[in-house]
This record gives sequence, structure tokens and C-alpha cells, in this order.
Amino acid sequence: MNIKSSAIVLFSPTGTSSKVVGAVCDGCRCAARVIDATYTTPDNLEFASDALVFVAVPVYGGKVAPLALQRMEAMRGDKTPVVLIVVYGNRAYEGALSQLDEFVTQRGFVTVGAAAFVGEHSYSSKEHPIAVGRPDMTDLADARNFGKELATKLAAITVPRMVDVTRLVPPRDSLWSKLRFIFFILRQRNKKKPATKPAPVVDMEACKGCGKCTRLCPNGAISPDGKHTDAERCIKCCACVKCCPARARHFATPYAPILSQCFAARKSPVTIL
Ligand SMILES: Cc1cc2nc3c(=O)[nH]c(=O)nc-3n(C[C@H](O)[C@H](O)[C@H](O)COP(=O)(O)O)c2cc1C
Repeated sequence: MNIKSSAIVLFSPTGTSSKVVGAVCDGCRCAARVIDATYTTPDNLEFASDALVFVAVPVYGGKVAPLALQRMEAMRGDKTPVVLIVVYGNRAYEGALSQLDEFVTQRGFVTVGAAAFVGEHSYSSKEHPIAVGRPDMTDLADARNFGKELATKLAAITVPRMVDVTRLVPPRDSLWSKLRFIFFILRQRNKKKPATKPAPVVDMEACKGCGKCTRLCPNGAISPDGKHTDAERCIKCCACVKCCPARARHFATPYAPILSQCFAARKSPVTIL
């Protein structure tokens, strides 16, 4: 294929999707323009047939993070080849890749490659580690290799050939982990919902008011001094928790311990071309 330009469209509050797609592009040897939809809705999301587009997004609740799709709503292609990358926190990506495939196909793109990679879970902490440090060196080497194979595939074809993302086989969990997690979810559903929506809490003594969390919040949910969070706007991405230099922000969720216990076994990336 004669590719004249390439672009990365990404949404990545805690940076793992961004790292993975960067490594894929490195492997592909394409100097892609980065269109970051993490903080604002980008303007120019129309792509010609001779462009190559990479889309990278995190998985939330087995689906594509809703704000990512909202920000990418205006994407339009003209039979433009697209490579889809979903990044998940070592539990499961469930229907996210199929959902993203449908989203881009409806907008005129042809999915020529797809992958599901693991990134450190947004809820991971010292007490409840979940996929800590991922994507690691091995993941990034796999991502570069995927990019290399993609370049070989594209060099060998003249028109984009669609891949069937449903053929991708997700990594398996032990039956014990699966059942334990399902029972936990069922118990959660039967519990009374808290009166207010959950959001990260601030240790007022530790917070220096530097405003880094305010700048890195994808949905403008944090006050300029960083002391208050609008729970209605918060998407629970935990970017504010991870970026705080004073470690003054915490997100207490009952999901962290169970995810840490049930999904400790390493999952490898899966790719399709
Ligand atoms: C609200 C929310 C829901 C999530 N749901 C899932 C999930 O269903 N499965 C999973 O494995 N990881 C899940 N994660 C973890 C993220 O997919 C993972 O941390 C990802 O690497 C974040 O991408 P980013 O660094 O690009 O923001 C969830 C994270 C958040 C904040």
C-alpha cells in the first residue's frame, strides 16, 4: 500500500495506551502525528484513503472508555486503513475491541490490524498491585514486533484487507479466579448504592495545591487548587492519583483488592493482522 501519512488518535489518562501505540509505531517505522483526545475533543479527525491511522484506548468495564468514543465521534475515513489497540488492566477486554471495530467501520475505516495489550491497572496501588509496571519491556518488544509485522503486511497489499477482530483469542483465566470475581460482582450488585458517586479523596494536609491533578484530569473534574473533585464529572481514571507528587489523592474502591487477588497471573498481548 502506498501510505502517504500516518496518525495516532489516542485517549490515555494514565499513559499506558499511549506507550503501547508509540511502540507499535516505532516497530512500523512510521513518524505518526499524535492526535491526543485525552484532554479535549480534537478538531481534525478526517483521514484520506492513503493515510494509516492508529487508535489506542483503555478498556473500562469491558468496553472502550466512554469519554474516548465521545471525543473520537467526529472521526471519518475514506476506506482508510486503521489499526486498533485496546489496553486493559490484566482482567479482561471483553467486547471492547469489537466495539471499537464497529465504531471505526461505521465511520469509513478498514481495520487492518488489532491488538489487546495489558497496562498497569488504574486502580493498582502499593497495597493492591494489579499489573504493576505494564506495559513492561517484554510488552513493548511485542508491540514493536507487531508494528514490524504490520509494515510487512501493508507493503505486500495494494488495498486494505479487513481483519475479523472476533477471531482474536483472549488470554484465559483460571476457573477459580473467574468464579471468585463473578461472585464478587453479584454481591456488589446486591449491596445498597452509596448516596454519592465515588471519586478520589484528597488528604488536605498532604496536598500542596500544585494543580497538576487539575491539568491532567481528562474531564475537568478537579478544582484549580486540586482540593475538590466533582464526582459527577469524574471518570475514575485515577490519573490524578497516579500523578500527584505529594501522594495526596486516593481512590478507595472495593474492586482493587479482588482484582489484585484474582488477576495476578500475567496475561500476554494478543494481536491479529
Ligand atoms: C473505570 C475503569 C474501568 C476499568 N475496567 C477494566 C476492565 O474491565 N478490565 C480490565 O482489565 N481493566 C480495566 N481497567 C483498567 C484500565 O483498562 C487500564 O488501567 C489501562 O491500562 C488504562 O489505560 P491508560 O493508561 O491509557 O489510561 C479499568 C480502569 C478504569 C479506570
